Amino acid sequence: MSSLNLVEQSKRSAAFAAVDKHVGPSVRVLGIGSGSTVVYAAERLVELKLQNKLNPELLCVPTSFQSKLLIIEAGLRASDLDDLPELDPGSGSYASIDVTIDGADEVDAELNAIKGGGGAHLREKLVANASKKLVLIADYRKNSEVLGEKWDKGVPVEVSPLAWSTIKRQLERLGPKSRAQTAVLPAAESVAAAFEFSHPVVVLRQAVRKAGPVVTDNGNFILDVSLGKIHDPLAVEQLLKMVPGVIEVGLFCNMAAEAWFGNEDGSIACRV
Ligand code: 5RP
Repeated sequence: MSSLNLVEQSKRSAAFAAVDKHVGPSVRVLGIGSGSTVVYAAERLVELKLQNKLNPELLCVPTSFQSKLLIIEAGLRASDLDDLPELDPGSGSYASIDVTIDGADEVDAELNAIKGGGGAHLREKLVANASKKLVLIADYRKNSEVLGEKWDKGVPVEVSPLAWSTIKRQLERLGPKSRAQTAVLPAAESVAAAFEFSHPVVVLRQAVRKAGPVVTDNGNFILDVSLGKIHDPLAVEQLLKMVPGVIEVGLFCNMAAEAWFGNEDGSIACRV
């Protein structure tokens, strides 16, 4: 019998299924996400490598310090995003990565996702954007109809430490009368329709026992922005990005091609 609890088992089965479907000898460049679910993807990659089922030239692109360590410990070759050439010159695609496998904090019915629970969403989004395909892996708790329905820690927003408290106040005031809102969502009703709360609730992410701000791999802070249910993720992403000093928003809209979930009953669901 497996010693893993149900949640860990479901992360593992989602990760194994996604790797088995998407990572074979034809994959030359693979993006490796961050978080606890991706650890199981790395475990499966090690097995496939030992069975000679990976491309011998495979390059892996990390999305965080954790992810770089995972790649190295798996005996795989790490590469930097900007060291990679276009994969298929002349094809019209600018991608340099075949496929990226990454975790998620919540995924909605349209495959929009909240990411950044581990504070790595800036690099995760850069790597996803450079990929032909983004495949998400998660346990059953992350599978939602609407973002914000299950994940109650807010949308992670990476911000400049130079003005974090001003940015926080501005985010808290986003609503029908804010300047940023008017630029993105001209009608006051649109903001009411985009998310549930009348105004966001914003918290500076702190280390345990409020020992100071969490600092990202990029030297920035994270503000967790709670909005209730997010009915229009793309509008909310654009709204948050309008605020000067916001570096990246942990909303991944229209980016994922597939999401794999380990279910509570041991089965696996794939959403495309
Ligand atoms: C890190 C992320 C992670 O992928 C996300 O938080 C999911 O993590 P886990 O697999 O531990 O549930 O976005 O920034």
